[in-house]
Amino acid sequence: MSLFRHELKATDGAARTGVIHTPRGEIRTPAFMPVGTAATVKALYMDQVREAGADIILGNTYHLMLRPGAEEVHALGGLHKFANWPYPILTDSGGFQVMSLTSLRKMTEEGVTFASHLDGSRHLLTPERSIEIQCLLGSDIQMQLDECTPFPATEEQARVSMELSLRWAKRSKAAFEAQPHRKEGQALFGIVQGSTYSELRARSAAGLVDIGFNGYAIGGLAVGEGQPEMLRVLDFTVPLLPKDRPRYLMGVGTPDDLVEGVRRGIDMFDCVMPTRNGRHGLAFTRRGRVNLRNARHAKDPRPLDAESSCPAARDYSRAYLHHLIKSGEMLGSMLVSWINIAYYQELMAGMRVAIAEGEFEAFAARFKAEQATGDI
Ligand code: GUN
Repeated sequence: MSLFRHELKATDGAARTGVIHTPRGEIRTPAFMPVGTAATVKALYMDQVREAGADIILGNTYHLMLRPGAEEVHALGGLHKFANWPYPILTDSGGFQVMSLTSLRKMTEEGVTFASHLDGSRHLLTPERSIEIQCLLGSDIQMQLDECTPFPATEEQARVSMELSLRWAKRSKAAFEAQPHRKEGQALFGIVQGSTYSELRARSAAGLVDIGFNGYAIGGLAVGEGQPEMLRVLDFTVPLLPKDRPRYLMGVGTPDDLVEGVRRGIDMFDCVMPTRNGRHGLAFTRRGRVNLRNARHAKDPRPLDAESSCPAARDYSRAYLHHLIKSGEMLGSMLVSWINIAYYQELMAGMRVAIAEGEFEAFAARFKAEQATGDI
């Protein structure tokens, strides 16, 4: 039996729950992957990330190739050992981060050249080098190099971009199969592009399925189109993907986006939102968002959520969290990041149980009602 295997356990409407088996452990789906860009989920210990319920974290080719370097991480025993996270890791391929973080970049058929955001040094990232880096890091799930089509794009711009990503998909697969550092059970995912155009998404998905990947991601969303448009694209894109492979919606999203994505058959998500917002004092809770910078918390002795599984949400007053965030104290960032990652994991766990019990719609309705009550 293959060492990388997606086992579907139950469906409820289009929503699915199951387990992705990997040599480094199981990933319960639907799953949220905390973002660990630079070999750290910012402001959290790996023990906290694990205890919050994360089965897998995400790392970034782009950041790690620049600092400390892929060969350097490999020499130190690989990314899992380097970061003290022995469980599954997915790495993004680098193209998206090049586009969002660098200036002076140039996309060609061969790959993307760019100037490092750290020191301005010039680099070339090709589909082959991206796979080589991901194998050196030793990630369990690797992503093809792609171009995240900017939004908005005309149909012609989106077509040219999607076709480039498709050619890169083919090169990524060939490079993956030829990689000397590859280990059995490592997986490669293709990425569907095509902006908001159903015909382009269909051609992208068909081309990727033709090449054959262990899983399929949907890219090019949450880039400014807004939630209704994103959900419209999911409505016609998810059904194009093989039922027996994991489906990953990249870079998404808010708690509501996760519920709506799961409702449409998405199995995996990643997003900087819980950690990035957490560092700045914005908490995600069962009752919606709470901005702890707000002066109304200054004298509030209540915890954020007495029923949370996270000690930081139960054992500290809102006044204390407010004080830490206002004072720029590191502990403020740490506690609110912890609260947010725990909430995201709790939400995923709740959805997994609800799907298994055939109660997903009731769960989603309760989720929306609770979020709408707002901070109390
Ligand atoms: N992260 C968020 N969106 C994307 C995308 O379209 N491509 C890649 N590689 N990463 C992403």
